[in-house]
Amino acid sequence: MRRTLMSLSVVAVAAVAAGTVLGGVAQAGTTLGAAAAEKGRYYGAAIAAGKLGDSVYTGILNREFNSVTPENEMKWDATEPSQGRFSYGNADRIVSQAQSHGMRIRGHALLWHQQQPSWAQGMSGSALRNAAINHVTQVATYYRGKIYAWDVVNEAFADGNGGGRRDSNLQRTGNDWIEAAFRAARAADPGAKLCYNDYNTDGINAKSTGIYNMVRDFKSRGVPIDCVGFQSHLTNSAPSDYQANLQRFADLGVDVQITELDISGGSQASAYGAVTRACLAVSRCTGITVWGIRDSDSWRTGQNPLLFDNSGNKKAAYTAVLDALNSGGMTVPTGGPTTPVPTTPVPTTGGPTQGPGGCSATVSLNSWSGGYVATVRVTAGSAPLTGWTVNVAIPSGGAVTSAWSATNSGTSGTVAFRNVSYNGTVAAGAATEFGFQGTGSGPTGTPTCAAS
Ligand code: G3I
Repeated sequence: MRRTLMSLSVVAVAAVAAGTVLGGVAQAGTTLGAAAAEKGRYYGAAIAAGKLGDSVYTGILNREFNSVTPENEMKWDATEPSQGRFSYGNADRIVSQAQSHGMRIRGHALLWHQQQPSWAQGMSGSALRNAAINHVTQVATYYRGKIYAWDVVNEAFADGNGGGRRDSNLQRTGNDWIEAAFRAARAADPGAKLCYNDYNTDGINAKSTGIYNMVRDFKSRGVPIDCVGFQSHLTNSAPSDYQANLQRFADLGVDVQITELDISGGSQASAYGAVTRACLAVSRCTGITVWGIRDSDSWRTGQNPLLFDNSGNKKAAYTAVLDALNSGGMTVPTGGPTTPVPTTPVPTTGGPTQGPGGCSATVSLNSWSGGYVATVRVTAGSAPLTGWTVNVAIPSGGAVTSAWSATNSGTSGTVAFRNVSYNGTVAAGAATEFGFQGTGSGPTGTPTCAAS
């Protein structure tokens, strides 16, 4: 008995030292995904469909990550190899893998000057513009309701050009090609967050400032943009103003995400820790994706920039990330619908109804004639949640057509939305979000939240 008590107290001391509290408050996550979820964020990896048969690879993926990005499979050359003929086999394999394990999917990338199919490389002018917008519409429609965030446009700004655009066949169709792509993506999948993604933008510099000015302009004119991706292909360390740069974008009213993280060099572990802490310190930094799983999976051959070695063992960098995720305070992502499309926040609060500390839910709507997208924010009460169910009354005549980051039972009347695997755990006072799309008019009643 005494021995048991002593060992229990050792566990308690160790846990508190690791920044956790026993007894029903926050617990340390033992995997990257679980630890990030405790902070209301995701931790993802870029993956390749061709590696899903590798059991070491898939074992790490399923254990550690709660978000995936297809490394190549959703790019233009992969999804539309000949004009108007779409090919989704490899991308679908990744989507199935993610869905069957409750992972989010970051779609990458609808338009990019690289990895264009050869038929598009040879096009220009309005023919290319039309083909590009059609591509955005077709692919975003095909995956509607399944994608957490799309990289709508990738790497459109130049290096060393004072913050100007990169020359490309797409740019030569007119400077408005980026906003045309974002508008088409919004129309095709109103529930996906729409991101602009780029590299060498990790500190405050001319290139990131060029993008900052574009995002500010888009927000002021109502061009639908929800997030900015910072690829973060780093050597040795992040720039000293990394967090400040994330924050200045967040202050424009967009989410920020670290989208392709890999770090080479001797101070790798501490650099990974610093990047993690920077994301946690910015409330609108909603998650981190590493660009591959094992060093041998990296596009940076021989640089060993990832969290697992070639055999799949955890590296010091892994431990640095996990420790950073498990320590420190809490800034809950505040992401939500971020575009000035008609948004009617419905300040409704439900619950608490069950569970030790209960939970509450609020809904905001993006509505149009005949339909809407609802974003629901679920906030834990005084105790952590291990699961939640939100009941929403759908106005008669309308129906839920798709949901993301939650599973719904039923589509009309009172619809119950239950957490999926990556967002059931919510720390006390923290929040998570899910969304759904519906026909008819949006819900106006008070949702109730049941904690478990
Ligand atoms: O699949 C073919 C294979 O059949 C063929 O034998 C082989 C011969 O070269 O090529 C294979 O395709 C390669 C593909 O990766 C899959 O491995 C392509 O040649 C190669 O170009 C491609 O590289 C990808 C690169 O984007 C293309 O620019 C990398 O995997 C991918 O990690 C990289 O990812 C980009 C992001 O999309 C955007 N940001 C930068 C990042 C790193 O470059």
